[in-house]
Amino acid sequence: MKITVIGTGYVGLVTGTCFAETGNNVTCVDIDKRKVERLTAGEITIYEPGLEKIFLRNLKEERLRFTTDLAEAFDEAEIIFLALPTPPGEDGSADLKYVLGVARQLGAMFKPGQYKVVVDKSTVPVGTADRVEKTIIEGSGGKINTAERDEQSGVFDVVANPEFLREGVAVDDFMKPDRVIIGSASERANKLMGELYAPFVRQGNPVIYMDKRSAELTKYASNSFLATKISFMNEIARLCERLDADVDMVRRGMGSDGRIGKRFLFPGIGYGGSCFPKDVQALVKSAEEVQYDFKILKSVMEVNQGQKLHLVSKLKKYFGNDLKNKKIALWGLAFKPNTDDIREAPALAMIESLLKEGAQITAYDPEAMKNVKQLLGDKIAFSENQYDCLEAADALLIATEWNEFRTPDFLKIVSKMRQKVIFDGRNLFDVAAIRKLGFYYESIGRPVLNQ
Ligand SMILES: NC(=O)c1ccc[n+]([C@@H]2O[C@H](COP(=O)([O-])OP(=O)(O)OC[C@H]3O[C@@H](n4cnc5c(N)ncnc54)[C@H](O)[C@@H]3O)[C@@H](O)[C@H]2O)c1
Repeated sequence: MKITVIGTGYVGLVTGTCFAETGNNVTCVDIDKRKVERLTAGEITIYEPGLEKIFLRNLKEERLRFTTDLAEAFDEAEIIFLALPTPPGEDGSADLKYVLGVARQLGAMFKPGQYKVVVDKSTVPVGTADRVEKTIIEGSGGKINTAERDEQSGVFDVVANPEFLREGVAVDDFMKPDRVIIGSASERANKLMGELYAPFVRQGNPVIYMDKRSAELTKYASNSFLATKISFMNEIARLCERLDADVDMVRRGMGSDGRIGKRFLFPGIGYGGSCFPKDVQALVKSAEEVQYDFKILKSVMEVNQGQKLHLVSKLKKYFGNDLKNKKIALWGLAFKPNTDDIREAPALAMIESLLKEGAQITAYDPEAMKNVKQLLGDKIAFSENQYDCLEAADALLIATEWNEFRTPDFLKIVSKMRQKVIFDGRNLFDVAAIRKLGFYYESIGRPVLNQ
């Protein structure tokens, strides 16, 4: 099939590359000229495990190409995916200016006799697919006859097809999705979408067809539920700290219950990233618009805000509320491992707070340092590896659970640090074992030993 993907960020690039991998001809469009040039030259623009290899293969096979020319990419496509940003607007609701702006442009491009499926892959509030449809028709300036979308006036269908990939494992998630949601009332569009996704669900995972509005809500409901699970466990962890219980034990005990499940029960320093924070906020806002007070989600957001600075509060307490000129080593900047994405990363909130207290920070992250350097310049220092940043450090803070932090060389750590103090926001180490090594060690919701 001939596919066009508009927006070549985390979702668009993975979507385009994976559709090319199954034999489709894919054109990816972006307004960022530099990005298009780099991608065309074979330079991958995001860090995502496994992506570069299939990206280069499909580029070479000429099944994947990049352009800034929307009109040309529109003309040849049977299915057009919108993978555009939907950032929070000033009031927290999803800002649809990118999605609707492109929809208007597409409307003007329709030619008589064409049939195209326009697919919303961005995370958008309920009713957006209908708004996209309306906007395309408006954009056509009368070319598309709404009463009878016949062959002459150009026909199209809008499909809501939310994306559930997780950054860090995006290629695997896209190639073998747990489910594909297709929201549309059009048989013609459903058939095309079903054919396109068939190679991805060969193991039998479901393609679930539903109406557009339910499809749109499914995405927000899923992300909000997961965020709720995280905030719930973070509150249990806070309680463990006060009741002298171990959240690791509680988590295992809870997770063995099939109704609860083992995944997403790990406490930490709060959720971040480009999705959970904005999607939870947008769902609260959507609920408000229909006079519904989504109380649970409001608490989820509040708990998350507090949790981002929980580790810093512990650190402050340890140093008697005086962090001035304390040398802090920070392991991890990305909002989660295996990505260079720092959007809403808890590490950034921690850095801001530590800098206000007068601390000096040297950070290390395997992939995200470039993005943080761009954002913070020389406000903090960076080191080339995880050990160099420990030089004369008064404490080590761990913000991201990269694999390479899990079993470090503790002797090397000891030889570098001024004080043997670790504050671990990801519960990476065994509390008793690290105590034996003589560290003062605090994590989240687990006993503090070595007082
Ligand atoms: N990142 C994720 O893990 C993830 C997962 C599922 C869903 N989503 C949703 O997918 C959507 C896209 O997210 P993302 O993380 O890929 O965003 P992103 O910011 O990484 O990428 C968006 C891209 O769109 C481009 N763009 C903006 N305006 C454009 C225009 N008019 N024409 C062409 N290109 C344009 C930007 O230059 C950028 O390259 C959002 O709605 C997001 O909520 C994201």
